[in-house]
Amino acid sequence: MLIGDVSPLTLGSSGLGRDADASGDAVDTARAMLASGLLVDTSNAYTGGRSEQTLGRVLAESADAERADAASRIVTKVDADPRTHRFDRDRVLRSAEESLSRLGVDRVPLLHLHDPYSVSFEEAMGPGGAVAGLIELRESHVAGAIGIAAGPAPLVARYVDTGVFDAVLVHNRYTLVDRSARAVFERAAARGMTVFNAAPFGGGILAHGAASGAGYGYRPATDELRAWVAGVEHLCELRGVTLPTLALHFSLGAPFVHSTVVGVSSPRRLVELEAMAAASIPDELWSELERLPPAPTPIDDEQDGSR
Ligand SMILES: NC(=O)c1ccc[n+]([C@@H]2O[C@H](COP(=O)([O-])OP(=O)(O)OC[C@H]3O[C@@H](n4cnc5c(N)ncnc54)[C@H](OP(=O)(O)O)[C@@H]3O)[C@@H](O)[C@H]2O)c1
Repeated sequence: MLIGDVSPLTLGSSGLGRDADASGDAVDTARAMLASGLLVDTSNAYTGGRSEQTLGRVLAESADAERADAASRIVTKVDADPRTHRFDRDRVLRSAEESLSRLGVDRVPLLHLHDPYSVSFEEAMGPGGAVAGLIELRESHVAGAIGIAAGPAPLVARYVDTGVFDAVLVHNRYTLVDRSARAVFERAAARGMTVFNAAPFGGGILAHGAASGAGYGYRPATDELRAWVAGVEHLCELRGVTLPTLALHFSLGAPFVHSTVVGVSSPRRLVELEAMAAASIPDELWSELERLPPAPTPIDDEQDGSR
């Protein structure tokens, strides 16, 4: 998948089908996502396979021409075996087979290696390792392109530096709060890789605000972070901009980000997202933001270590 083919927004479907009892809602959300003309990001593991299944159900009900177009916009990921955590070449081939079957397609435009935390970098890159499986899938055109998708920037940088991947996705690390993925994104873009920046709202607090109780990067927000976000909300209010609109444009405006991956939980959220993307941010607000002290991010990949 080449840079020019990606939409500036990619719709994240990690929550699609989360509520198994509300599958009708999930189908409506998947219909809206696939009708949007934007890329959709899923994975073998999301909601135990229901994210892919729901997208596949909507593809199956589409007319032929629409189906081909929609299918060409679904990006998925290979995952470790959910029971054994095995993540080698054979598991990668099996994971891709499961995804193709759920989606009802025979190829995907882009297939990421997803969260390779149960194996070391050396194991993943070695003979019979997960990356060998991905390369095979690209050579046989089952995957149009291959990517690395994960959190810790130092780990992702090691995969990027192999030169093997066409795309990279990092989450929660290039936002108003945490900018630690900037260097790896710049390196990847300089190599000609397609850069996906996921979770511009930090998974919650930058969409719902400091008083919401929402966390950052799937961990609780500290008092210090809530106070910092409240300060940004105050600046936004003075300029007539909402916090999530600013957070979204922070990523959309980065020259080294080709697509921003946002979680979409309903058709209404998609309408709101498109309106936010169409808004503009006054220059003064960017200057005011830059004058704030750095945000107390709860993410510290160097401290946490990465395999
Ligand atoms: N390792 C990986 O590959 C990886 C990891 C993380 C994420 N991702 C991808 O990135 C996507 C985005 O990540 P994410 O969903 O965790 O984080 P996110 O997009 O930063 O934030 C999602 C949060 O923002 C809220 N939100 C979204 N649109 C909103 C709107 N219009 N108005 C108000 N609130 C809004 C959602 O609330 P509601 O729930 O109320 O809508 C949810 O709480 C995922 O779906 C996935 O596709 C990939």
